[in-house]
Amino acid sequence: MTEKDFIPSPYSRVKSEGKVGYKSPSNIALVKYWGKKENQIPANPSISFTLDACATTTYVSFEKLLKPASSFSFDLFFEGEAKPDFRPKIETFFKRVELYLPFLRNYHFKIETSNSFPHSSGIASSASGMSALALCLMALERELSPGMSTEFFSKKASFLARLGSGSACRSLEGDLVQWGIHKDNLESSNLYGVKYPHEVHSIFKKFHDTILLVDKGEKQVSSTVGHELMHGHPFAEQRFKQAHENLSRLKLIFKEGNLDNFIEIVESEALTLHAMMMTSHPYFILMKPNTLEIINRIWAFRKRSKTHVCFTLDAGANVHVLYPENEKDEVFQFITDELIAFCQNQQYLCDKIGFGARLLMSN
Ligand code: DP6
Repeated sequence: MTEKDFIPSPYSRVKSEGKVGYKSPSNIALVKYWGKKENQIPANPSISFTLDACATTTYVSFEKLLKPASSFSFDLFFEGEAKPDFRPKIETFFKRVELYLPFLRNYHFKIETSNSFPHSSGIASSASGMSALALCLMALERELSPGMSTEFFSKKASFLARLGSGSACRSLEGDLVQWGIHKDNLESSNLYGVKYPHEVHSIFKKFHDTILLVDKGEKQVSSTVGHELMHGHPFAEQRFKQAHENLSRLKLIFKEGNLDNFIEIVESEALTLHAMMMTSHPYFILMKPNTLEIINRIWAFRKRSKTHVCFTLDAGANVHVLYPENEKDEVFQFITDELIAFCQNQQYLCDKIGFGARLLMSN
């Protein structure tokens, strides 16, 4: 498929008003997307666990205008209140996807959105938020174009979410989603996320992710700027190659349920991501002293307990602590005994692998 396949033919139906709602989860990358080409094309393939509890709920009400608007017409409410700060993000998104959703100027939209996690938790809401919004818009497009297949709907929703925020294209389905062309997955695409097609051992079907909120402040460097800094980065080519290799290695690891090898890749990916930041020009550090303290304590605990707890990091200071279901009691005890003290206001979020976005309403 190419981008052109997502440009619709003239719509066969008219819909004057309605409302649709979706709940979309966040996701946590195991092999990280860091670096992109034009139009949100990833510089390397990535794979993530879809989460469950950390999610965005979005309702979009729409009303057809008498004539197409010269600028996009929408009201935006975040957790019940008008949110002017979020408008530019939506404007940019609408501009990017207008070619693929030509109805956008024909309606007035009321977008009501809320997150299940605290607003200032430092948890990125762009993945769940853009995924939920893309699904709502696709639900409207399906009304206008009723013959649309489920497969096309999912691909195009992921394609649109990607244009909002790259990692958002991995937030529509569960439980493992891959984005970006990789030789071992013939279905893989740079345009949208796909469910991981290979065999996955049952140990990976029930994984926990306890998110330790080390620093809830605004990041000094946004992901978007960080991606930019991979252009001309001295280690970029090597890093992109490594991501391909790690995905290849994961194939057997997922099949066999080899947790030791899984840990080695996941932790290396997290540290490599931050190493890329530290070796960019300009360089920057998003980890905090408590991030390192937590990592060291996880390593010490893993050694003495022989459990399979490991960590990964997003583009921030918070730590995602990953562990399998059969070790959850022991690991969670360790988290509460030893790690929570290093979180800002002792805050953390308990999450686990989830199975994707859910339609809440459509009329
Ligand atoms: C470190 O998807 O937030 O979380 O495409 O600019 O919106 P934009 O970036 P974003 O980058 C996510 C980077 C990451 C790794 C990952 O999720 O794969």
